[in-house]
Amino acid sequence: MPDKKRILMTRRLPPDVLARAERDYEVVQNADDHIMDREEILEKAARADAILCCLSEKFSADLISRLPGCVKVLATFSVGTDHIDLDAARKHGLRVGNTPDAVTISTAEIAMLLILGAARRANEGQKLLHSRSWPGWEAMQLLGMRLSGKRLGILGLGQIGRAVAKRAQAFDMEIHYHSRNRLAEAQEKGARYHGTFDGLLGVSDVLSLHAPSTPQTKNCIDASAIEKLPQGAILVNTARGDLVADDDVIAALKSGRLGAAGLDVYQGEPNINEGYYALENAFLLPHMGTSTVEARNEMGFAALDNIDAVLAGREPVYPVV
Ligand code: DGY
Repeated sequence: MPDKKRILMTRRLPPDVLARAERDYEVVQNADDHIMDREEILEKAARADAILCCLSEKFSADLISRLPGCVKVLATFSVGTDHIDLDAARKHGLRVGNTPDAVTISTAEIAMLLILGAARRANEGQKLLHSRSWPGWEAMQLLGMRLSGKRLGILGLGQIGRAVAKRAQAFDMEIHYHSRNRLAEAQEKGARYHGTFDGLLGVSDVLSLHAPSTPQTKNCIDASAIEKLPQGAILVNTARGDLVADDDVIAALKSGRLGAAGLDVYQGEPNINEGYYALENAFLLPHMGTSTVEARNEMGFAALDNIDAVLAGREPVYPVV
């Protein structure tokens, strides 16, 4: 039997994913799941045919340019690719694949949790109970916002945005969206298109972000965007932290200009803006959008599908570069 090809797996992945990887490849593992720095990645990739990476490692232009020629494919265990310098990968002839389908449902489910948690004041409710100071039922206690009949604005009606729209429609929300291009009617499923981001902001009682992190989307939720939202609107982010200008959002949550926020992703994770911790009206989760057994297995299998394809001389199944 010919020698197995070798892959570097930069983080510890679910057992079923590891079992499939080990069946087909020699796997260089990260037993204690630490975050590898550039030099360690280069050292461990020295004889690798592929790298299966996560969003916790930054593949900068410098790192990519120093990868040995034997590394043919970088398969990221994520849909997001903002941790990879894609231009550098293109120049270096390194194929890149991601995992779009696998993340969709779980991320949409966590967006619904954030919408509900923010609208129904879950953070305050949890604190009241855990502090052992709940006086019991009161008619005016923790009154939130009912979702039924409210307008949900979705920035980016891609796969995840559409999955959120479908779930929110079951809560009788009215769906509005802005994307670079208008979708076909069959894909819109009743969602109303806004040709400008400002147009979407103006009608969003709840605004949910589903756009990738790019230079164009960075800090797109800043003080001036918040001013265009209805008074007391709710902001939900399951996309990437750098879409949100944290200081502006924190100021608006403090003043009540924003009614609440449900956030799963942050600039500078895991060292998030300190201002968030003191806010009662922020329902915060630690980047858990895809943290289901199903999604993490499917993400691993999709990453391995990308590697299998490239090492067999084909296109990645989910090509990015
Ligand atoms: C992704 O797939 O980009 C997610 O953020 C990982 O949880």
